Amino acid sequence: MVTISDVAEKAKVSRATVSHVINNTRYVSDETRHKVEKVISELGYRPNVLARSLRSGQTHTLGLIVPDSSNTFFAEISREIEISAFEAGYSVILCNSNEDPQREKLYIDVLTEKQVDGIILVSTCGQINTLRGLKKLQIPVALLDRDIKNLSLDTVLVDNKNGGLLATNHLISLGHQRIGFITGPSDANPSAERLTGYKQALRENGIPFEKELIRYGDFTAPSGRLKAIELISLSNPPTAIFAGNDMMAIGVLRAATEKGLHVPEDIALIGFDDIELAAFTNPPLTTIAQPKLEMGKTITELLIQRIKNKERDVQFKMLPVSLIIRETCGG
Ligand code: RIB
Repeated sequence: MVTISDVAEKAKVSRATVSHVINNTRYVSDETRHKVEKVISELGYRPNVLARSLRSGQTHTLGLIVPDSSNTFFAEISREIEISAFEAGYSVILCNSNEDPQREKLYIDVLTEKQVDGIILVSTCGQINTLRGLKKLQIPVALLDRDIKNLSLDTVLVDNKNGGLLATNHLISLGHQRIGFITGPSDANPSAERLTGYKQALRENGIPFEKELIRYGDFTAPSGRLKAIELISLSNPPTAIFAGNDMMAIGVLRAATEKGLHVPEDIALIGFDDIELAAFTNPPLTTIAQPKLEMGKTITELLIQRIKNKERDVQFKMLPVSLIIRETCGG
């Protein structure tokens, strides 16, 4: 295997100079830099990352665990996290827990064994004792999107309750009194928080809450389609549906088409997340936008600050959401 000494010898510079060229840790003249880089290329030298991390005690790697990597909300959030981490000199290992607490625990163990410098976790909100163990980990963990009660870790959330309120009030403002709500998994905190906002909007507008209008999905498009068919098939169907995320809203659009209903004329629809696809559905989806770029940037900055100073005060950030009006609610 080619070593840093081989490069130094052939380029007729010190090992330290080769290291400074590779890591940009000190000024090196263009002539020397060019000479070293030419030799690295000729010899096919690749720095020994493991040796470097053993020396520095850091791998400059972050772990990221998301509940469903096929959901474009998490794909977009992962992209923002990777961009922020890369700019700060960290690489990211992405793990998919598939909304399964057992898998989540497995990946926490795997990332610990790989000695990542920190973990960003979007929790399944499943086994609290697993999550309580996070505090004992030597590796800093930051929570994104889904908080865990009584676990004081750096956390970045959005105001899901206000998002539910905004979505439901928008439909009420357009004259809808019977509004179906398809919520995500009951374990996932955002589901309950959005339902709370939905109920608050009904209460504040004197509209009775009807349990039959609440359906429990799993944040996927197929569940949105199935739950929408249930709502549309009621003897007194809703005139509007609030889907707890955009993937389920896409499923609702499919169900409306299958049942010969037009959106928004026959049934209005609003989603949650504002994934990039929301602007491309037919008709384009009205939804509640989560600030994905700010979420990814903020959680990455908090974790890296924690890695550098484990004693700093725990940070809790709740970011605002916003109503994005397109064409699925009419008005
Ligand atoms: O679309 C996936 C959902 O799960 C999002 O609304 C996000 O908040 C996460 O909790």
